[in-house]
Amino acid sequence: MPCPALPDGFDFTDPDVLHHRVPLPEFAALRRAEPVRWIPQRGNVAGFQDDGYWAVTRHADVKYVSTHPELFSSSVNTAIIRFNEHIERDAIDAQRLILLNMDPPEHTRVRQIVQRMFTPRAIRALEDRLRARALAIADGARRHSGSFDFVTEVACELPLQAIAELIGVPQEDRSRIFDWSNKMIAYDDPEYAITEEVGQESATEILAYAMNMAADRKRCPAKDLVTTLVAAEDQGSLRSDEFGFFVLMLAVAGNETTRNAITHGMHAFLTHPGQWELFKRERPATAAEEIVRWATPVVAFQRTATQDTELGGKQVRKGDRVGLFYSSANHDPEVFDDPDVFDITRDPNPHLGFGGGGPHYCLGKSLAVLEIDLIFDAVADAMPGLTLAGDPRRLRSAWINGVKELRVDAG
Ligand code: HEM
Repeated sequence: MPCPALPDGFDFTDPDVLHHRVPLPEFAALRRAEPVRWIPQRGNVAGFQDDGYWAVTRHADVKYVSTHPELFSSSVNTAIIRFNEHIERDAIDAQRLILLNMDPPEHTRVRQIVQRMFTPRAIRALEDRLRARALAIADGARRHSGSFDFVTEVACELPLQAIAELIGVPQEDRSRIFDWSNKMIAYDDPEYAITEEVGQESATEILAYAMNMAADRKRCPAKDLVTTLVAAEDQGSLRSDEFGFFVLMLAVAGNETTRNAITHGMHAFLTHPGQWELFKRERPATAAEEIVRWATPVVAFQRTATQDTELGGKQVRKGDRVGLFYSSANHDPEVFDDPDVFDITRDPNPHLGFGGGGPHYCLGKSLAVLEIDLIFDAVADAMPGLTLAGDPRRLRSAWINGVKELRVDAG
């Protein structure tokens, strides 16, 4: 039975749909009536460019697809970054070098190498420097006499600094890398005066920078994490182009996601004053996970069926695309009590904001949680009287739940 609540021609990947309201009431209707639903495509949107796709909206089904890579491949059409001809010519089939777009066993090989960067020890080693950054960011914002934009003044910098620290980018190169990263993700929004060409040029610059870094370490190994990735002698190591594409992916995966989690988190606190008071008083360790559930910065990723299979009572055919709607899963009442309530003490909180738990589960999760904890600690101490000074201006995107501007007042 088609879901009666879903109008004909409705497409979740139409940026004009997601632009205004997440989570969508249509998700709730589908979860109840038709949790795996074929959506004929109207638009031509990054990541979803064919005839249609299956919209998967229940928590259990999103987990099932994520944890069965043999049935649902990541290597076809999962593109989240578009490349210019130059990169495609030089790197031949560039998409396949992106970790998110790989299947086992290639994915397993590369992930085993890159996860050396994300061990608990490696993340702990960054904590003091990131705390100092967070305090400086909040202190700088506090000095504004009137209202200011929370996105540019607070949420943007820490995620970029965290990636730079992780890779060991020297201070003198950081502003260039930050500028390229910001241009690369400034897509889909007509109000943002950056063309797609500029975004693609920036991706090329980041790639070239990281490939040079890798080549340097291969020539002159140092005592740093990059060396352990590209020049490990006894274990596997990455080629320079593999390292380049990994850094390029981090500049997207670890940047905009965390920025939007922080911005949505601030908005949620300021529109739920009781939760902000609770946070300032008790700093519950569960807050960051609830912020990610609430924000769900990545609305959806997709997979492609490798064979005919059944999913949620529907017959999925080989080659069909399957959209995993994390924003819907994160409000599934089968899993969450009062899913539409923002509750920073929620525990357990098995949200899928970092993915459905399969081989591609977010590699940067611990780093992201650390960043969110550090920035809200710093903001709560520096600006306890922060107030909203306008409605958020949302990013126009088909798959990122983003905010471009959030005006606040330090009081
Ligand atoms: C993958 C979300 C922060 C690095 C993913 C996936 C999601 C996600 C949904 C895909 C999971 C899947 O397909 O099953 C988020 C959110 C973040 C965040 C919401 C912030 C709140 C970060 C950070 C980094 C990072 C800070 C690193 C600096 C990665 C990488 C992957 C990934 C490398 C690909 C893993 C793979 O394909 O094996 N993330 N992420 N993420 N994320 Fe994150």
